[in-house]
Amino acid sequence: MSKSQKDFKLSEEGLAFVKKELTRYETKRSAILPCVYRVQKENGGWVSPEAVSYLSKIMDIPTAYINEVLSFYTMYNKSPVGKLHIQVCCNLSCAMNGGRELAEHLCESFNVKEGEVSANDEVTISRVECLGACDIAPMAQVNDKYIGPLKKETVVEEMKTLLEEK
Ligand code: FES
Repeated sequence: MSKSQKDFKLSEEGLAFVKKELTRYETKRSAILPCVYRVQKENGGWVSPEAVSYLSKIMDIPTAYINEVLSFYTMYNKSPVGKLHIQVCCNLSCAMNGGRELAEHLCESFNVKEGEVSANDEVTISRVECLGACDIAPMAQVNDKYIGPLKKETVVEEMKTLLEEK
């Protein structure tokens, strides 16, 4: 279930980032990708409808353009995620090296369904397509970091350590 937010605002640095991005391209639309990414980073890992409206105002661009980008790219989360968003690659190289089993194992260990936030708000586990890091298969993107090759025997401990560092 997706939560709603009353309000969203970027930090001063975030606002400065958006303004700078707007000067870098010929059209404002070209700046949407980095700006939405910044919003996601400052909004606990997801982009809410309120954040889209806010961004639309400060970029002076229709919300429809931003929503188009949001629906096309899987790197943007349209609903809340846990403190640790573990995106397990289940594409060819990773699948052949146990990626799908890793995703299942993580869901069972953290007692959470795929794509949902765990009861303690700590973990979200999703399956994703190739992240271009097949050399470290099976791998996952954990928040901003690529981690691999992962092993079923140690992956849960590794994720718990990352959680403690948060
Ligand atoms: S198949 Fe997993 S990173 Fe390419």
